[in-house]
Amino acid sequence: MSQLLKSLQNNRVVPLVESNNPTTALKVSEALLKGGLNVLEVVLRTDQALNCLEAIVKEFPQAHVGAGTVLNADQSQEVIRRGASFIVSPGLDVSSIEVAHAAEITILPGVATATELQKALNLGVKTVKLFPASLVGGPKILKAFSSVFQDMQFMPTGGVNPNNLLEYLSIPSVLACGGSWLTPGDAVESKNYDAITKLALEAIKLTQLK
Ligand code: 3PG
Repeated sequence: MSQLLKSLQNNRVVPLVESNNPTTALKVSEALLKGGLNVLEVVLRTDQALNCLEAIVKEFPQAHVGAGTVLNADQSQEVIRRGASFIVSPGLDVSSIEVAHAAEITILPGVATATELQKALNLGVKTVKLFPASLVGGPKILKAFSSVFQDMQFMPTGGVNPNNLLEYLSIPSVLACGGSWLTPGDAVESKNYDAITKLALEAIKLTQLK
């Protein structure tokens, strides 16, 4: 098992880092690491997202820094060039999967249906993001998928929060859950990085209840 998968299994939650400012992104990442989380997903949703990714990779070599909201092969190549150690997509894009596999990097393409899961499986993908998890069926659909796609590991994302986290994590095929609840926009904007550390600590505490 790769170091990344081991860390995902240990962390059990993957916070999203979304910022248009590399300095802020570094502060958010520092707060998450201080709280004990070392797998971060930097989402490509701002003009400066690639620079944020690169800065975090350089500053925190001890962390697994992935890129999220990666939509195509060009972006996949670019995030690899900037040092991403894994790729997450909202949907399943064959060319992105090919780029990730050629670079021997873990990719978690988004899936919401059995057809997409089957396609992912037949492309050699072993880890997927169920997205948007709460809207496509939540823990119930995950259990149904898991009984059919027995070797697939899932990272449900979309609507995961402290109230439903343990329900997802109790499903054996769930590696970790992704989500933005660990890095709320208001805490980032007000530079309340201690609040982010606190959320990370609380999430870890919660996962240990399982
Ligand atoms: C994602 O990018 O994976 C989702 O937007 C995260 O969903 P959430 O905001 O409900 O956690």
